Amino acid sequence: MKRHEFLTLFGISAGTVVFAPFLSSCTSSKIPVNTGSNPVKVAAPEFTLDLTLPDNSALNRNGGSLIKNGIIVAHTSSGAFIAVASACPHQGANVSFDNANSRFHCSRHGSNFGANGSLINGPATTALKLYSVRLAGNLLSIYS
Ligand code: FES
Repeated sequence: MKRHEFLTLFGISAGTVVFAPFLSSCTSSKIPVNTGSNPVKVAAPEFTLDLTLPDNSALNRNGGSLIKNGIIVAHTSSGAFIAVASACPHQGANVSFDNANSRFHCSRHGSNFGANGSLINGPATTALKLYSVRLAGNLLSIYS
């Protein structure tokens, strides 16, 4: 059997053989969003929360919050979603969302952080990492 007959038998064209190695490069965690001459890649979300699920119901009311994967996600009284690292930079206790004062509070030693994670007072000496959020329908995605 000649090479051409063998490849044809298995439905393999020369193009398939040439481009197959490049197809595996599409498994990056970055998602191409523009295939023009200057493609832009957007990071995949850290995680996505389905707000219709009971486990995420705390986020369906203003002032509610939950912690997942080391990130605290809160629904502010103005209806915005915010997300910051949940571990206090002082000694690692989880912070909570203080909706009345629109800030994050660490009850272990009293550090406070703004809604954007900025340090208000210590003993912590650094801010909480701020994450981006995007709501699409009932899906809330958290990005680095
Ligand atoms: S662990 Fe948060 S203030 Fe000490």
